[in-house]
Amino acid sequence: MAVERTLSIIKPGAVARNLIGKIITRFEEEGLRIIAVRMIHLTEAQAKSFYAVHRERPFFGELVAYMMESPILALVLEGENAIARNRELMGATDPSKAMPGTIRGDFAVSVTRNTVHGSDSTETAAAEIAFFFSQADLFPRAS
Ligand code: CDP
Ligand code: MG
Repeated sequence: MAVERTLSIIKPGAVARNLIGKIITRFEEEGLRIIAVRMIHLTEAQAKSFYAVHRERPFFGELVAYMMESPILALVLEGENAIARNRELMGATDPSKAMPGTIRGDFAVSVTRNTVHGSDSTETAAAEIAFFFSQADLFPRAS
């Protein structure tokens, strides 16, 4: 197994509902390290760009509106197999199918308002981390 980095987003509804601490605790208790954090209120252009892969999907407009509702917290998580482990912590996209004990199973409101995002591959993780962070934002710094 390799040490990986993955992008997590605590989505607007979860930030608004004061769930940042509870969600971050899940990452820390799993042993994933937080190596960068940024709170940002996405513009429409940024929300559309981040989720561009879904632009033809029927839920795209609702998703973009949700992502702009209030600030989000973007985090970079690091650890062995971090991409898959974060996806396991998150649970299924649709909270009605997410297991109790997962972040979405415990906190999500609907398939759109599902509290967290997590990268799904090494390629998307690299691109999504670069969307929010520069190399100098990641700790410890390489040099
Ligand atoms: O976030 P995840 O990778 O689990 O799911 P996705 O299929 O990549 O979809 C991205 C996001 O779009 C989801 O997390 C939901 O917020 C939203 N979505 C939605 O609103 N309605 C759907 N039917 C599917 C996804
Ligand atoms: Mg996805």
